[in-house]
Amino acid sequence: MKHLVSILDLNNKDVNKIFSIAKHFEEVLERRVKKVPALIGKTLALLFIEPSTRTKTSFELAARRLSCDTISLSVSTSSLKKGETLEDTARTLSSMKVDCAVVRHPHEGAAKKLASLNLFPVINGGDGKGEHPTQALLDAYTALKKLKSLNGKKVSIIGDVLHSRVARSGIELWHRLGAKVTLVGPPTLLPRHLPEYVDVSYRLDEVMKNSDILYFLRIQRERLGGECLAGIEDYRDLYALTKDRLKNLRRDVVIMHPGPVNRGIELDPEVIYDERSIIEEQVFEGLSIRMAVLTLLLSEKGGFHEIPA
Ligand code: CP
Repeated sequence: MKHLVSILDLNNKDVNKIFSIAKHFEEVLERRVKKVPALIGKTLALLFIEPSTRTKTSFELAARRLSCDTISLSVSTSSLKKGETLEDTARTLSSMKVDCAVVRHPHEGAAKKLASLNLFPVINGGDGKGEHPTQALLDAYTALKKLKSLNGKKVSIIGDVLHSRVARSGIELWHRLGAKVTLVGPPTLLPRHLPEYVDVSYRLDEVMKNSDILYFLRIQRERLGGECLAGIEDYRDLYALTKDRLKNLRRDVVIMHPGPVNRGIELDPEVIYDERSIIEEQVFEGLSIRMAVLTLLLSEKGGFHEIPA
């Protein structure tokens, strides 16, 4: 049984396979009837213990487009509220013959713990400041479609890298696909220990000139202690893509953000809809990427490495 807990669960062949299946599903999503019978008879559980719009609806819609049934559990409407553990919840779902679960949880390691039970394939939909592998996949895929190749491209990841599961999965994947990664932010929001292939800068205005992709992260107020940010206004002055900074930006730069955006903090509203922004494309590609991941994990052969090309 295979799980997708970390981007490290995928080798390069797996990533290419996901991208190639996603391309096929993109065509399906343009049809009048946007549905295929690939996973008929299967059931996906959505275990979202932390709020989500994009990941949850994207997985739910992806499953439905594949004719896979879905069930959705949240803390407020399940026995988790009565103190039932996530493990017992998962065992209960397994008894009901659920085939796969997507887990979003505030604690790092929650998806890995669930996967270790080997009840069904587990997909990490974001675990605290751990990882968010499908976000990394959809980001890289969207950028690849725009730029044709990521080899040698300069990707600057800006903001609260320290608390970002998106960055943790993304740094590894951008690097693997040949991009040069620079992390940009105040020292308090950048990790101390980084792979040797990553550069660091404290100045957005300097890296902006040389970046092919500007990837802005959300300021995660729910995970920040008061000591990390002197003030949101100071942060905005130094690290936000404001209307004024937009004027000086290269015409061919690509602007990305995983969402949800704190408007007026990391991005001004005008930036979201600028012609250089591919934020809406990221959301669209999330659907085809998640259809591909579900197909590979739930196919009869089960798992990424075993599926023939
Ligand atoms: N990008 C992302 O994970 O968004 P949600 O929190 O809305 O799922």
